[in-house]
Amino acid sequence: MKLRHYELIAWGQRHIVWGTLRPVATLQVQEQVALAPFTTLGVGGSARFFARVASENELEEAVAFATKHSLPLFALGGGSNLVIRDEGFHGLVLHLAIGGEMQMSGAGDGIRYDVPAGVSWDDFVLSACEHGLTGVECLAGIPGLTGGTPVQNVGAYGQEVSQTIGSVRVYDRVVRAFLVLTNEQCCFAYRTSCFNTQPSGRYLVTQVSFDLKAGASAALRYPELKSRFLDSTPLPLEVYHVVREIRRAKGMLFSASDPDSRSAGSFFKNPFVPASRLGEIAEEAAVAPASVPHWPAALEDRSAPHVKLAAAWLVQMAGFPKGFSDGAVGISSRHSLALVNRGGAHFSDVARLRDRIREEVYARFSIRLEQEPVELGPETRDPF
Ligand code: EPU
Repeated sequence: MKLRHYELIAWGQRHIVWGTLRPVATLQVQEQVALAPFTTLGVGGSARFFARVASENELEEAVAFATKHSLPLFALGGGSNLVIRDEGFHGLVLHLAIGGEMQMSGAGDGIRYDVPAGVSWDDFVLSACEHGLTGVECLAGIPGLTGGTPVQNVGAYGQEVSQTIGSVRVYDRVVRAFLVLTNEQCCFAYRTSCFNTQPSGRYLVTQVSFDLKAGASAALRYPELKSRFLDSTPLPLEVYHVVREIRRAKGMLFSASDPDSRSAGSFFKNPFVPASRLGEIAEEAAVAPASVPHWPAALEDRSAPHVKLAAAWLVQMAGFPKGFSDGAVGISSRHSLALVNRGGAHFSDVARLRDRIREEVYARFSIRLEQEPVELGPETRDPF
């Protein structure tokens, strides 16, 4: 593979902050880097340019490189919620790997945890649980990096990161400066935030601060989790281990030795529909309305009551059971919402199965399933 180094030392030296010289960083930009190995699904083409960014200085340099060469820019984190198209990406992929120590501060019940964006999400959750802190214990075992979690407001087993994020430090490509956004400024909702709406790409996350609680009971809202502890009050670390066990059983714990985990997690979002439609959905599936998995949905902007449906159930009812195969791709044998790469798959294989599922679900239930993972390809826009 051809490798070129673009040394931007002079650019780094110009930046003087508070009368001191910032450390000089040397950004290395590679060309034609295969992106599939950076994702858990493992499909897709190459990035024309690729830079691993390990500090905020390098991040500024990478943004300057993209601007100078009029390249679209895409921020890659842990690649666990990402699907790459076979044509790849013709701009600069900035691999956000800003590491460093997690910092705890505060006294009494409220503890603040400042976590660099490149820290593994599960390492942070484990550390918080080991310190007896609650707030993220149900989010154990989610693959990826901490910096990616606010983007889609990661959630599982009754918790969402929006419930504990105090603030997010970002590089704002519009004002060209580092800013700290408060929780309210992140506009969190189900699987969305200002980072993946309005449009995505404006903010590059460099650190996330969480407000956790000491001495509080772990959250057990999810029936599957509650049933594991019955009447006991578990420690956060106990919840951490049980959640990982549940995720492993569903093939949702990434492991190189588990073929069901070669996926991008849930491939579709759980859809919201008016509660009045439950009857017809049940009829279409030939089950009693009470057997349609659904949860009341708190949607402030809708006048009629809505429910959230399980996309996994709709996929199954549309004729795509667990373990379904379609050439090099298929459906996980343990969860019908995960499309898996069975080895050597291309994006086109994934897209074909995705479209078949969407069409069948629409034909049967008149519900349009929305793709959950981010998709990167030549047409991916970067308005900044
Ligand atoms: N179900 C099926 N078939 C299956 C699996 C589930 O019919 O193969 C039905 C069952 O009725 C079950 C219901 O779907 O009760 C919900 O399933 P599950 O508890 O596994 O949750 P989910 O709604 O499919 C969501 C998140 C997951 C998160 C889990 C646990 C979305 C799109 N997905 O899945 O997040 O781990 O809840 O809280 O909201 C992800 O986003 O990548 C992800 C893994």
